[in-house]
Amino acid sequence: MKGLSLFVGVLIASLSSIAFAADPIVLKFSHVVANDTPKGKAAEFFKKRAEELTAGKIKVEIYPNSTLYKDKEELEALQLGAVQMLAPSLAKFGPLGVKEFELFDLPYIFDGYEQLHAVTNGEVGKKLLAKLDSKGIKGLAFWDNGFKSFSANKPIKTPADLKGSKMRIQSSKVLEAQMRALGALPQVLAFSEVYQALQTGVVDGTENPISNLYTQKMHEVQKHLTLTNHGYLGYAVIANKAFWDGLPADVRGHLETAMNEATEYANKIAKEENDDALAKVKASGKTTVYEPTAAEISAFKKALVPVHKEKEDRVGKETLESVYKATGFDPSKL
Ligand code: LMR
Repeated sequence: MKGLSLFVGVLIASLSSIAFAADPIVLKFSHVVANDTPKGKAAEFFKKRAEELTAGKIKVEIYPNSTLYKDKEELEALQLGAVQMLAPSLAKFGPLGVKEFELFDLPYIFDGYEQLHAVTNGEVGKKLLAKLDSKGIKGLAFWDNGFKSFSANKPIKTPADLKGSKMRIQSSKVLEAQMRALGALPQVLAFSEVYQALQTGVVDGTENPISNLYTQKMHEVQKHLTLTNHGYLGYAVIANKAFWDGLPADVRGHLETAMNEATEYANKIAKEENDDALAKVKASGKTTVYEPTAAEISAFKKALVPVHKEKEDRVGKETLESVYKATGFDPSKL
């Protein structure tokens, strides 16, 4: 009897390994931006390396541009296991209950990518990704996009210029406070809805890294863009935890390697992609691009940095202090 069950066990194991050899594990990776963006390109890079390294044991299917799910739905789909991987922007984790991620939305908190990496590659970054475990999510990496600028149908030179304007934001309480600090009226919309909302006047303006603005053609429906670079927009690459932990160890190891390589690639191309998109926006002649003076930037900082204190409880006082320590940011010196 014992011999028979052993035989059956061995038979099942070998049959499943035959099935495994024949059928690759499908990993659906959904995202909301165009292929031709830092995130879109990094996702393609990950797919290529994951499939090469696992010699076809993994098949990565990428669904860009909200073709499968919009912002909120994609997070639900990941938790339910309908997709296995996403890279939502850091501004979209609040509704999941991990509001500390909104620290990345604080205006002017990072003066460039180097300061940002001091946080994402350091203790705070590690702690944030670990916080996702209890939500059934495995945090894998941070991928860069870039620094956001304001756009609208009127010139924006001072904080007062956005007063009363309806501004589209991502689903972040910090971004809501940021817009209110300008006297603007924040409106949360899914990324896939922004172009039409701008075109039809549902909202007057928005904020984006230029790669997103350009690839969604938002510059065609916004007359003015001011290079305020007032906040950061980047991503956490995440997987369904049960899926990730359930992968054969060798496959998971290869995916980790592919992810490390894709992260290096993403963070290398992000600035170039945004610079390139800015050149294209300028060349299109469809919107007026304004480069604010140092005094104008300083006025935006004065108006917006108080949001750090206002939202300290939301992002966590201790976390905020760790970020200041890692970057050298001093809110009293503006
Ligand atoms: C947005 O909604 O503006 C961004 O999060 C889109 C993205 O994924 O870059």
